[in-house]
Amino acid sequence: MYEALLTDEMKPWRDLLLVHKFAVEEIKTKLQVLDEEFRNIHDYNPIEHIRYRVKKPNSIMEKLDRLGFEPTIENARMHIFDIAGVRIICSFTEDIYRVVELLKSQDDIDVVLIKDYIKNPKSNGYKSLHLHVDLPVYLSSGMVKTRIEIQIRTIAMDFWASLEHKIYYKYRNKAPESITNQLRVCASMISTLDERMWAIKKEISTLNETEELTLDENVISAINISNSQNDN
Ligand code: GTP
Ligand code: MG
Repeated sequence: MYEALLTDEMKPWRDLLLVHKFAVEEIKTKLQVLDEEFRNIHDYNPIEHIRYRVKKPNSIMEKLDRLGFEPTIENARMHIFDIAGVRIICSFTEDIYRVVELLKSQDDIDVVLIKDYIKNPKSNGYKSLHLHVDLPVYLSSGMVKTRIEIQIRTIAMDFWASLEHKIYYKYRNKAPESITNQLRVCASMISTLDERMWAIKKEISTLNETEELTLDENVISAINISNSQNDN
């Protein structure tokens, strides 16, 4: 915890960040359980890796200022929904929707907003699925519903977004047209890459299923042979 937050005057900010930190811890456990259980059932994990962050007070205040609000704790509570942020990176686009369904099916998770920039990419080519979810955090003083922002992307989409983010900051939103054009081309290449990798994955699964079937058949015929030999 930052030193500037340790004063009495900053206590409300400290409490706000702490409750968001707890919400992050909760979602972290939920996601780990889902991922591990899924791996256990399907022998495959939909989540590649996860990143978490809680916004610092100065960046919350900067965002309030950008949105035209006074930098107060009440405004932070009412208008900033990404104080706690979780970024889930999946291998395939299909896994993204699978993770969303798994989250939606949990009774204590309330999905309040879904922005699907995969079906409707931004004009710069940005693709990702954003969710705002409310989670109950149980403190000694009672339950506090806490909102977090979850971004879910494929590895390829994440690669694109991190490069685009660096360029955006470097040029302060005024990148040369040749660069923004190249980024759009790369975004489309990345979508093709995601589709082709998924096609390969499906082909491998089909091959594995056929192999398992053949194996099963071989085992059955081996048992039959041994049974008929025992009969003799
Ligand atoms: P913020 O004020 O930044 O929270 O944007 P918003 O309220 O319009 O929400 P949106 O869901 O569009 O974006 C939220 C977050 O998604 C951003 O803070 C970024 O982390 C990410 N994001 C959105 N658009 C882009 C983009 O064009 N490029 C990159 N690299 N990231 C983006
Ligand atoms: Mg944001």
